[in-house]
Amino acid sequence: MMEKFDVVIIGSGPGGYIAAIRAGQLGLKTALVEKDKELGGTCLNIGCIPSKALLTSSDHFMFAKKEAAKHGIMIDGAHVDLGKMQQRKDKVVKTFTGGVRALMKTNKVTTFEGIGTIIAPGKVSVKSSKGGTQELETKNIVIATGSAPVELPFAKFDGKTIVSSTEALTFAEAPKKLLVIGAGAIGLELGSVWNRLGSEVTMLEFLPRIALGFDLELSNLLQRLLTAQGITFHLETKVSAVKIDNGAVTATATKSGEELKFKADKVLVSVGRRPFSEGVCAEKIGVEFDDRKRIKVDKHFRTNVEGIYAIGDVIAGPMLAHKAEDEGIACAEIIAGKAGHVNYDAIAGVIYTNPELAGVGLTEDQAKEKGIDYGVGKFPFRANSRALCNEDVDGMVKFVADSKTDRILGAHILQHAASELIAEAVSVIEFGGSSEDIGRTCHSHPTLSEAVKEAALNVEKRALHIMNR
Ligand code: FAD
Ligand code: NAI
Repeated sequence: MMEKFDVVIIGSGPGGYIAAIRAGQLGLKTALVEKDKELGGTCLNIGCIPSKALLTSSDHFMFAKKEAAKHGIMIDGAHVDLGKMQQRKDKVVKTFTGGVRALMKTNKVTTFEGIGTIIAPGKVSVKSSKGGTQELETKNIVIATGSAPVELPFAKFDGKTIVSSTEALTFAEAPKKLLVIGAGAIGLELGSVWNRLGSEVTMLEFLPRIALGFDLELSNLLQRLLTAQGITFHLETKVSAVKIDNGAVTATATKSGEELKFKADKVLVSVGRRPFSEGVCAEKIGVEFDDRKRIKVDKHFRTNVEGIYAIGDVIAGPMLAHKAEDEGIACAEIIAGKAGHVNYDAIAGVIYTNPELAGVGLTEDQAKEKGIDYGVGKFPFRANSRALCNEDVDGMVKFVADSKTDRILGAHILQHAASELIAEAVSVIEFGGSSEDIGRTCHSHPTLSEAVKEAALNVEKRALHIMNR
């Protein structure tokens, strides 16, 4: 007999599994369909979580090797057991994916293993990898099928020498020479991991800057710091060919009209991700896509077909786990007849290098482009007491505020703990607050967050611990 649900969600990444939890909380009879063995999608299995586990481990190694002695801690012969480091990462992932499965039970969500296909509005077929297909009947369907790495036509992934982030998270040994194409979030994070673990890392980026979308001044500063850590950057460099000969790679690129050759053991291609919606909808259903093959939705996540919704990486907007999660919550609430909504002006982006680069809202350049009359307040961590105690003084905080209303338009932080510090700015932006609001808030001493307060005060050029404004 065909099972009947209020909502069937296809894809169990942070978009899908969070939508399932919220739908379950709201009393909807919910099903979650996932083609892979584990729940959790890209984020938990091959994205955010394993990458952060390796970033933390390799950062600890750098501390032991380069920083500990400054604190009077002498660690002789610090070295890496990569097998153990990878096992720890796998354990972190397993704990989390197991936790998601338990959360499905708690929230009375029925899970199905298999490829989900919408065969008609209100009907999803699930084809299991073990053979056999079953049909689910439902009032509503949420497509949360995520994204996949973009492949370069002249450098097709072979999973060994030309790899995506998925394989670069599982190397059994650090490649001697690693070439990274694309200096965005993945390139910078995984380039950092392997640089720390002993690879000679060269990054090729066709734009004149790294970390597109983040504040330019802070991105340039991050590039200088990563260069000092040993990563080589070639900007405005266009790769045109990648050849493999005897397991060794030669990439051909042009920089300022000059042809360059780069040799390496492995190439990580990290030039973006594309929405993944192959096969999720039978063509006759007529779900519309935009020019970048993302599923088109209105502000209530509704596609053009009644009863079919889409969220996360498969629709427009930043490809971020917390964006997918918040859309999952809002979409489940809308399906349950409530007023769900996402504030796209208050979604932070973070690159988890050391220091971390975080930003929310408008950058200075974006404010300029929009013709907004804005003011800027900055504060360097070298003037912050806690950063000094931590021996961690690289980076700064920068606010962009509206000159007339003082409302915060954007906040940008480069610091070892920027991913945590940015949360204060996100909250204040969410509440429509001003730089004065942060400047008048009492921050604990001594903390890194005092630098956030000082930068806010400096929008009106009245930071306290600063000599040159
Ligand atoms: P996904 O997580 O991609 O999940 C989609 C799921 O749908 C998958 O499990 C897939 O198997 C399943 N699926 C697809 N089609 C079907 C089908 N027909 N039937 C059944 N199941 C199907 N974001 C951050 O915010 N912070 C980070 O630190 C971060 N780090 C990242 C690091 C890496 C290396 C990568 C690759 C990404 C990272 N991201 C990060 C991005 C983040 O992973 C994505 O934005 C997020 O996973 C998107 O969630 P989603 O639910 O839309 O899709
Ligand atoms: P990205 O979009 O962040 O960066 C891709 C970079 O590659 C850009 O700088 C682009 O100019 C460059 N590029 C594109 N084509 C190129 C070419 N042919 N030659 C040289 N350079 C080229 O994409 P990335 O790093 O692959 O990450 C994909 C997505 O995953 C991102 O959109 C991000 O949202 C998400 N992600 C998020 C993380 C986080 O939040 N910490 C971490 C990792 C990924």
